[in-house]
Amino acid sequence: MVKIIKAKDYNEMSRKAANIISAQVIMKPDCVLGLATGSSPLGTYAQLIDWYNKGDIDFSQTKSVNLDEYRGLSHDNDQSYYYFMHENFFKHINIDLANTHVPNGTETDAAKACAAHEAVIQELGGIDLQLLGLGNNGHIGFNEPGEAFEKETHCVDLAESTIQANSRFFEKIEDVPTQAYTMGIKSIMMAKKILIIVSGEAKADAVNKAFFGPVVPQVPASILQMHPDVTLVADEAALSKCPL
Ligand code: F6R
Repeated sequence: MVKIIKAKDYNEMSRKAANIISAQVIMKPDCVLGLATGSSPLGTYAQLIDWYNKGDIDFSQTKSVNLDEYRGLSHDNDQSYYYFMHENFFKHINIDLANTHVPNGTETDAAKACAAHEAVIQELGGIDLQLLGLGNNGHIGFNEPGEAFEKETHCVDLAESTIQANSRFFEKIEDVPTQAYTMGIKSIMMAKKILIIVSGEAKADAVNKAFFGPVVPQVPASILQMHPDVTLVADEAALSKCPL
């Protein structure tokens, strides 16, 4: 059963999501957070930073693993997810950088990079709370429609629609990497708790299919219906096509 929390708008969604993450860190200071990039979690990270600055939350013992990274982008490329995490979250809080783990996009040996990321997750004892965004096409991480549900961290070719969607962050579409390393559906489903945040009307179809449609690989997020502890925090626009 997916627990659905309705928010008025993006800001309220972000606050509610930050509340859940903050509760996790307070209850278990040395927890392992699974983190995401993209537009969806920016407000959540900003809220957590604000609470950190007010002294309400302490990340000194917290560990993190990230969902995905473009293959071939260097750490100082401002479109790499490594850079994103540092700029938008890590450098503003007291997390120990040695405890943060983004798949290594600079490692061009895909099998090596993916095995190393999966090994980190195992060594940390698994993910306590995994934060996810939802792609317009129903993807989670970079698990595109049609991917097998049972994969761990692996290298993927990005769907044309994802390249299009992500091109807004690059100067020209040719600059968007065509491959990424991503935690697989299996790695995501192994997390003890999952928090998925969705905002905006453009995602309304994807939300409806993912949480009210059949569980099928064509809608990767639909597998979340099978997870025992999933919370969806979405705003009214994102929930507008759901039979609620
Ligand atoms: C990001 C990720 C992606 C995004 C998704 C939504 O680490 O894994 O699955 O969560 O593409 O992106 P935004 O939030 O930019 O709409």
